[in-house]
Amino acid sequence: MRTAKKLTDKVSWVGKVDWELQTFHGHEYSVRKGSSYNSYLIRDEKVVLIDTVWLPYDQEFVENLRSEIDLNEIDYIIIQHAEIDHSGALRELMREIPGTPIYCTKNGEKVIKGHFHEDWNIVTVKTGDTLDIGESQLVFVEAPMLHWPDTMFTYMTGENILFSNDAFGQHYATESLYNDTADQCDLFAEALKYYANILTPFSALVKKKINEVLAMDLPVNLICTSHGVLWRDNPAQIIQKYLEWADAYQENQITIVYDTMWNSTRLMAEAIAVGIQQEDPEVTVKLLNAAKVDKNDIVTEIFKSKAILAGSSTVNNRYLSAMGGLLEMVKGLKFKQKKAAAFGSYGWSGEAVKLLTEDLTTAGFEIVNEGHRAIWVPDEDALKACQEFGRSFVQSL
Ligand code: FEO
Repeated sequence: MRTAKKLTDKVSWVGKVDWELQTFHGHEYSVRKGSSYNSYLIRDEKVVLIDTVWLPYDQEFVENLRSEIDLNEIDYIIIQHAEIDHSGALRELMREIPGTPIYCTKNGEKVIKGHFHEDWNIVTVKTGDTLDIGESQLVFVEAPMLHWPDTMFTYMTGENILFSNDAFGQHYATESLYNDTADQCDLFAEALKYYANILTPFSALVKKKINEVLAMDLPVNLICTSHGVLWRDNPAQIIQKYLEWADAYQENQITIVYDTMWNSTRLMAEAIAVGIQQEDPEVTVKLLNAAKVDKNDIVTEIFKSKAILAGSSTVNNRYLSAMGGLLEMVKGLKFKQKKAAAFGSYGWSGEAVKLLTEDLTTAGFEIVNEGHRAIWVPDEDALKACQEFGRSFVQSL
């Protein structure tokens, strides 16, 4: 079936829109609005394919590509990042055109060999290397750890297109492709979730790389990402957003994330929220039960917060497992310049608050106090103490 979409006289989108995707990176990332694996076909004097699609769609991809072009006419394949959602159709494609050179970074070569164990014709490139393809030239820019060591961007002169791979992407399915045709609220929510959950640990590199690309002073009419929309309407807006998000982003928000066995810790969380609101009526407060709310949504709310409170009852001398899974994710994301404290109910030993505090410290949060505990079911006085804890937490920020 012919599914290609023409972007310019020379460039077509030949990817796959995946409306059914529910999770990504195994089950680490929840997907609610589908996604896409964007691949691009450039027809200048030379024919170039940029990236492919996720493995389950490999045959469909190659068949659709064949209906668009004689595969033997493809002169170069560019793999900007060899994670399987972009390199997945490579084996199927190389069966058809085995000698075609694959352009990638030095690290890309390692990843491709590590994934496919094939002796393909790989040409490695580095920042500043160019490929003449006719009227246009392709300029390569390495972008290591955005978000894998192999990642690179490709800039196409003449058309002024930046192929950015995962950067500026979102898990968002769209048939109409462009940012201005998307529901703006959904689009930016998904772009933020993507940044918070995937790119946060690399924020310093994001900032550096964007500034490096901006210093090249390249005109950019279109940013062609590898997931979700293509940014044609004011592409600078997503670059600006990335610079904000990469700079220890925070809003005037405090997130209370907790788990609870018999509701005592929930009652504490709610009383703390009341205290926070009394002290600062302007602050946005969100209460999220880690056992009930999607973990990636919680991470996104933490990303937006200036401070968090982590709560759990004590069980088996530890804290509850939903908080454990969440904090394991949070440790890896390496949030910067956020403050925190812990709270929780207990019956006898009561270790949860101390352990949560230790793990928040390991996760890089600035701990503002030693936390707050309440024994058994909090009575009126205990809830008042929780409110007071909420007020003093705000004062300490
Ligand atoms: Fe979309 Fe890092 O792969």
